[in-house]
Formats: sequence, C-alpha cells, structure tokens
Amino acid sequence: MKIGIDKMAFATTSEYIDLAELAKVRGVDPNKYLIGIGQSEQAVLPPTQDIVTLGAAAADKLLNERDRERIATVIVATESGIDNSKASAIYIKRLLNLDDYVRTVEVKEACYSATAAIQFARGQVALEPEKAVLVIAADVARYGLKTAGEVTQGAGAVAMLITAEPRILAIERTSVAYSQDVMDFWRPLYATEAMVDGKYSTNVYTDFFKHTLSRYEKLTDRKLDDFAAIAFHLPFTKMGKKALEAVLDERDDQTAWRLRKALLASQNYSRRVGNLYTGSLYLGLMSLLQNDPDLKAGERIGLFSYGSGAEGEFYSGILQPGYQEQLSNVAGDLSERQLISIAAYEQQFNDQLGMNKADVEYDVSADPARFVLAGQKNHQRQYVDKQQL
Ligand code: HMG
Repeated sequence: MKIGIDKMAFATTSEYIDLAELAKVRGVDPNKYLIGIGQSEQAVLPPTQDIVTLGAAAADKLLNERDRERIATVIVATESGIDNSKASAIYIKRLLNLDDYVRTVEVKEACYSATAAIQFARGQVALEPEKAVLVIAADVARYGLKTAGEVTQGAGAVAMLITAEPRILAIERTSVAYSQDVMDFWRPLYATEAMVDGKYSTNVYTDFFKHTLSRYEKLTDRKLDDFAAIAFHLPFTKMGKKALEAVLDERDDQTAWRLRKALLASQNYSRRVGNLYTGSLYLGLMSLLQNDPDLKAGERIGLFSYGSGAEGEFYSGILQPGYQEQLSNVAGDLSERQLISIAAYEQQFNDQLGMNKADVEYDVSADPARFVLAGQKNHQRQYVDKQQL
C-alpha cells in the first residue's frame, strides 16, 4: 500500500516587506540580502495572526467533506507554540469545525518536527488505511530587529493530508533520521526571539545533510542520479545551494545540472516569504512541484529536513500522476499580498502579544484573513472566525 502526501496548501500573512528596502534602511548592500542570503521579500506578521490562525487558514484551503469525515488525527508541528500546555491543534480543530472524535496534538523539534509528524502519520495510516491525518506545519520565524537573523525571518503554514493511495507523493520505506545535542539555535522559555550561532548553524546543517544522505545511499544502493530533484529545508534560499553544492562537489554532468535547476524551482516561494521554520521544507516542495516543468509522475524526489538542536532526516518519495492538481495556488496568493514600509513592519513587530499578561483587544477589521486573533482575555487567547460573526 502506498502512503504519503495527498494534498498540500499554504497560507501566509497578507503583508510583506521588500528586502532591498530593508537593506537600505539597515545600511547594508542590498545584494547581500538578495544574492548573499538569497531572499527578496519577507512576510510580516500582524498581531492578529499567529500559528493557530495561519494553520487554520492553510488547512481550510484543502479540506473537503470527504477529508473531514476521515481525519482521525490533527498534528500541529511548530516551535512557535502559543501555550506551554494546550496544543494549538485544539484551537485549529475548533476553527475548522472538525468532529470532536479527532485526536489533536502538537509536536516540536525546531524546523524538523513536521517531518516527524509525517512519519508518525504514516504509521497511523498503515494501521487504519481508511483514515487520514492532517499535518499542519506552522511557524513564525522571529530573530529581532537589526540582528543578523532579521533577514531570515518569515511566517506561514503548510497543511498536508497524509493518506493511503496519495495523489502527490508516495513516501518510500527507507528514511534516515539523525540527531545530536547541538547548540546552534534555541529559544529559552522566557524569550520571544530565537538565539542563534548563525555561521555554526549553517555548518551543522550541511554536515547533517551529508551524513543522512550518505547513509540513505548506503541503505538503498541509490545515488544522486536516481533523484529528479531534492527539496531542502530553506531557512534562507542560499542554504539549499550551500548544501547541494557540498555533495555535488563541482560535478558538471546532467544529474548535477538537473538538481541545480530543480533547486532554483524549489527556492522560488521561500525567496518571497522567508523562513517558515518547520514548514520551509514543505513550502520548498510545493515550489518545486509548481515551478519545475520538467518533473514527471513516477520520478523520485529527495527531501532533506533539518531542525536546529539538532535533528536531520533524509527521505524520498515518488511523484504521483496529477500531483499539480492537489496543491493550493501559492503564486496567486503571494501576488495578492500588500507591500508595507519598513517603519510599518517595525511597528507590527513590536505590537505582538508576546509575553504580555494583560487583557488586549485588537482591531481585526484591517486584517483580511478569515481566522484572526482578536486579543487576550483572562489569559486566554481569543480566536475568531470572521465568517461566524
Ligand atoms: P551574516 O553574518 O549577516 O552574513 O549572517 P554573512 O556575512 O555570512 O553573509 C552572508 C552571505 O552573503 C555570505 O555568503 C557573504 O559572502 C554574502 P556565503 O559565504 O555564506 O556564501 N555577501 C554578499 N553577497 C553579494 N553581495 C554582497 C554581499 N555581502 C555579503 N554585497 C546568517 C548570515 C545566515 C548566519 C544569519 O542571517 C543568521 O544567523 N540567520 C539565522 C540562522 C540560520 O538561518 N541558519 C541556517 C542553518 S540552521 C537552520 O536551518 C535551522 C533554523 O531554520 C531554525 C530551526 O531549526 O528552527 C534556522
């Protein structure tokens, strides 16, 4: 029985900044951001959005009545949790009006957790093939104004339905997970911004990619030639290039150029949104599938997942016929966003609820999203579906 990704949908915020503009304001050569880091635009999170609203928006795009009836579990993968106890999946399940007889849980391991969620989902579907698992990778990447990481921020969610006989990607049996206790990036409980040893983190990422890929090659007897494309976790798009070139090792043959071309297709959306943390690999996969015209059903895609702290996993899947029809219209959604000034972005950055304990009421009328965070009352976050108002 094939098990894998049946449908995918993406949601991000309605506003973004131009990173050439940010570079000017920060006194940096714009090419450092555009070429050196490989980012052109960045999603801006208003205080009325968070992982719950973004996750619900992504999932809402892909669910039809049949999906709703067969969802047995909702797993939200995130490192931007909004509560130390309660799972964001419960709020999302309510906003989506899913049946109460559904398991709801949240998982965490930096940018890696969505991959763990997919692997756990495969297990459930293997036991109960008529069921589906909704995996939502939702995050807000936040480093702080005027920090080196600022240019690698972002926000958004990717929702995926994991089923038997999937219509996008049938996941293959062999996968290689690899973890080590490494302090390259972390966020203590008292902090709203990540702490990071930036350059070190890029080296750990590349090492983990090499380790997991070479073990996968040994276990499967496959080589780079067997892949039509590899999708990478993209904290910034240059990171994927660094990792791919580290294993291509100056190769100049057909395989090397095919993988380089595919990488470009996979970077397209991340370049315009920024880091989604655990959703980044999957936005990269959507970008690959929607922007590489040479891909064909039956071909093998490699996926490299990396989460600081650190955990990596290399796995693979086979593209299924008609895969393009099971993806939400990401390019269309991105083109509808509104460009805002750097001053407006800084204001939004500082207006986040964060660790605020007080009651807060937001004006949600300016946010075009259906699902919004209307504020906080008695220490409880107030989520609203505007269609129910
Ligand atoms: P930095 O110190 O600002 O940048 O930090 P830099 O000086 O290293 O320059 C970056 C690149 O721009 C360099 O290229 C420069 O040469 C180039 P490279 O040598 O790397 O190929 N450059 C220029 N290019 C063209 N024209 C110019 C120019 N000037 C310079 N004028 C850093 C960059 C990424 C470290 C920083 O932004 C950061 O700390 N980001 C956050 C950490 C991160 O994203 N790490 C990635 C790996 S870890 C990971 O993926 C996990 C993560 O997603 C979190 C999780 O798991 O939850 C982060």
